[in-house]
Parts: sequence; structure tokens; C-alpha cells
Amino acid sequence: MKITRKAFLGATAPFLAGGCRSLFNIGYAAPHRPPASERINLAILGCGTQAYDNVTQFLQDPRVQITVTCDPVLEAPGYSYRAHMPGGRQVFKRKVDEKYGNTSCRMTADWREVIDDPTIDAVAVITPDHWHAILSIEAMKRGKHVYCQKPMSLGIAEGQAMVRAAKRSGVTFQVGNQGRSYSSQRVAAELALNGYLGKVKRVEVELPNGSGGKWGHGVDTTRRSIPSYFTPETWSIWQGPAQHWENDVFIPGIHEPMCWRWNSRYGGGMITDFGAHMFDLVHRGLGMDRSGPLAIENFTAGRWQQDRGIFTWAGEFSFDLIYPGDVCVHVFNHDDKSSNKSGKGTSFIGEKGTVTVLGNTLVRPDYLKKWNEKRDLKDSEIHLYKPKDGHSHEMDFIDGIYENRETCSPCEVGHRTISAAHIANICERLGAKSLKWDPKAERFIDNDAANALVDVPYFNGFSLDA
Ligand SMILES: NC(=O)c1ccc[n+]([C@@H]2O[C@H](COP(=O)([O-])OP(=O)(O)OC[C@H]3O[C@@H](n4cnc5c(N)ncnc54)[C@H](O)[C@@H]3O)[C@@H](O)[C@H]2O)c1
Repeated sequence: MKITRKAFLGATAPFLAGGCRSLFNIGYAAPHRPPASERINLAILGCGTQAYDNVTQFLQDPRVQITVTCDPVLEAPGYSYRAHMPGGRQVFKRKVDEKYGNTSCRMTADWREVIDDPTIDAVAVITPDHWHAILSIEAMKRGKHVYCQKPMSLGIAEGQAMVRAAKRSGVTFQVGNQGRSYSSQRVAAELALNGYLGKVKRVEVELPNGSGGKWGHGVDTTRRSIPSYFTPETWSIWQGPAQHWENDVFIPGIHEPMCWRWNSRYGGGMITDFGAHMFDLVHRGLGMDRSGPLAIENFTAGRWQQDRGIFTWAGEFSFDLIYPGDVCVHVFNHDDKSSNKSGKGTSFIGEKGTVTVLGNTLVRPDYLKKWNEKRDLKDSEIHLYKPKDGHSHEMDFIDGIYENRETCSPCEVGHRTISAAHIANICERLGAKSLKWDPKAERFIDNDAANALVDVPYFNGFSLDA
């Protein structure tokens, strides 16, 4: 069913109070692929902390025209956004207009206006995680290309639906795991994959401490009235498919910008937040991009914030993901304030040597210090995606749209990456020590309770429809 503008607007009022099922029960449109002579019209969905990075990159690309900024918030103070900068659709419209020297960028509080706008070719989904699947799928159905921030999904079934939608729609999809565009990660993965470390039997991933209070944000659990930068309607948009709190209160520790990560209604805690980056590198270096672990073992978790009903994820955890060939990926954090805020990175430990990646820094063993990819990597060996000079992760997305090709971080790869994190979170929720996973069927083996948790519960009339 094609939604006419009139029908769409008519359907808006009841939707704001609740569901989207009937409104979005439509088929798939052909992907928008403008010719190279035309710019790609891009809409920004979510104008908060991370949008500062993504929008800055997109604005530097002359092939992109940001035509709409969308956020239920018009303009909110910056106390909790990164570096105390304000967030909201108006803040980003100003940024866009300033760059283009005009005032033509539109704004809306309502993502459905973006999704249904036939002039928009692509969307950047930079919202809290509970919105990623719905916004991406609805955009894909309408032939819009999607740059979706990591962690790609809030649950495994969401990721599976996104993969189905990406395949069916044929759009270009880029997950915001920008490490795929970093040379440090590429070289580490190439060294591991091509045997320069000897057989890799162990990988260690140290994540930062993982609960409320991280990044200097509050752990304030007081129940307050909704701040004035929301109306009841826009607050309802922010909640989307998530269960509203009793009396619809605002709890700063999980409702202020960035803070939502620590509650399972909106995010998966540190294991999905930073795990998204690090497990992505692990999968790349182990050649597991489209597969996954066979089991999770030795799971332990501890130190919750004072109110576990609000901060649902553990601050400390340790577990092993077991991959084919008996490769053990040991994941841990120890809440050591002296350690780097990003943890100590990811180490591929081979029989001959170890490489460690921390952000864009690569630490390699002495015997590989002089190894030079350009000179030493043979044609017959595995070469991973290498951005053209100066090309950002966002630019690879734009290339992919014009060239009708997969990006360096496509939907299925992002889904498999974050599934590993979701498996760990499901272990935590069940209080289990270990679980077995079938990466082909994407199901837990002989465990109904675990399989029941691959679905994220949706409220307010939303459903996954891909
Ligand atoms: N790749 C990276 O390194 C990186 C770094 C930080 C954050 N992120 C990811 O970016 C996403 C956003 O995180 P953040 O820290 O910017 O959060 P944030 O809370 O600072 O900003 C999110 C914004 O989305 C808006 N929003 C909520 N629902 C919306 C909807 N339906 N339509 C449009 N806007 C909506 C909020 O009002 C808010 O302004 C998350 O998925 C996060 O994991 C990625």
C-alpha cells in the first residue's frame, strides 16, 4: 500500500497516542539511487551527542545535501550532551544552514514525515538504540538507504528483521561501527587473518566499566516531571516502542541524553555500547563476519548501581565467547579507574605474537614493527576494506549508494557483531553461567528461556514488520 500524503497526515493523530502497525503495512519501494551528477538528500534522525560527529562528516561531503533534521526535541540544554553542547533538531538545522549558507534545511519532530517524504534518499539513524530497528526498517521499505548507528539493534530478532529488510529492499546500509574505516583495526585483522601471529587461539577484549555514571553522567534516580523541552506528544515519540514508566515520569539517570544506555528498555549497557565496536573487530580478525560464537561460558556479573530496576545492566562482567576452532574470546572489565576510559582494547593473541588495538592505535610485536601492508601483504592474502585517502566511514556509505554496492559495514555484519553482545546480555538476564548458540540457525540450543529473550518486547502498538 502506498501512503498518500493526506492519508499519512490523517493517520498521524491516533498514531501519536499509540501504534504504527496498520500505518506501515506496506510493500517495498525500489531503492533511490540518484545519478552521480545529483546530490543525495539525507535526513538526520536523532540530533543528539553522536550526531555532532556524523553530521560534521556528512557536511564535509559535497555529494550530500542534508535536507531535514528530525528530533522530538527542538532544542535542549547541553548539560548532558557531549561537551555540554545542546541537542535538538533546531541546533542541527542551524549547523546545516550555516554550512550551506541558506535556510532551506527543514525540521520536524516526527520521524514519519521523514520516512514518508519521497524527496529523501537516505537517512542517518542516530537515535537511542530502541529506535534503530523500526526507523531503519521503515526507511528501507521506502527505498531509503540507511546509515544506522551502532549497536545496530536492541535485540537479536530486531537484527534478523533488519537483515531481511536490507536484503529485500536492496538499499545500501552502513552500520556506524566506524572502526572498520580505521587503519589500526584493518591492519590488526589482516595480521590475524593472514597468519602473521601464528594460530590465534585467544582474543582478549577489555571494555570500560559498564553502568550508570559513566561519561560523567548522573546516576540520579529521582522521578521528575517531563522537562519543558518535551511536550506529551514528543515525549511519546521519544519512548516509541519502549514501555512507558508508571505515571510517565522522567528519570534523569536514564532519560537524559546518553544516559538511556543503562536501561534495557532503551539500550544494552556497556556490553552492546562498546562491545559493538570491539566485537566487530574480533569478528573481522577471526573471519567470523557472517557467523558467530558457538557458546558463551564462565559468565559472571557484579556491581549494579544502587537501583537495579533503573540501571539494569551490571557494572562489572567477565565471560568467554567460544568460536569454531576452540578460539576463546575473553571479555571483561574491572572498573579500574586508572585504566583508559575505553578499556585496554582488543588483543589478538597468536602462537607467535600479539597485536592490540586501542582506538586508532595499533601495538604490534617487535618482529612485525617493520611490517608494511603495502609492501608485505601478498596479493594472494586476504585484503580488507581500505578507505580511499581521507575517506570517512560516512563517505563509504555515500560511495555505496552511488555505486550500488555493499558498504564496509553492512547490515548482516553489524547484526552478527551485536548478536554476540546480545548473547552475553541474555546470559546476564537469565543469571546463567553458560549458553550454547547455533550461529547458522541463530538460536540458542536446547534453551527455551534464552530463545524467548531474542525478541525485544514492543509496546504502544509497535511491531516488527519486515
Ligand atoms: N559510533 C560511535 O562511536 C558512537 C558514539 C556515541 C553514540 N553512538 C550511538 O549513537 C546513537 C545516539 O547516541 P547519543 O549518545 O547521540 O544519544 P543522545 O541521547 O545524546 O541523542 C539521541 C537523540 O535522539 C533523539 N531521538 C529519540 N527518539 C527519536 C526519534 N524517534 N526520532 C528522532 N530523534 C529521536 C533524542 O531526542 C536525542 O536528541 C546511539 O545508538 C549510540 O549508541 C555511536
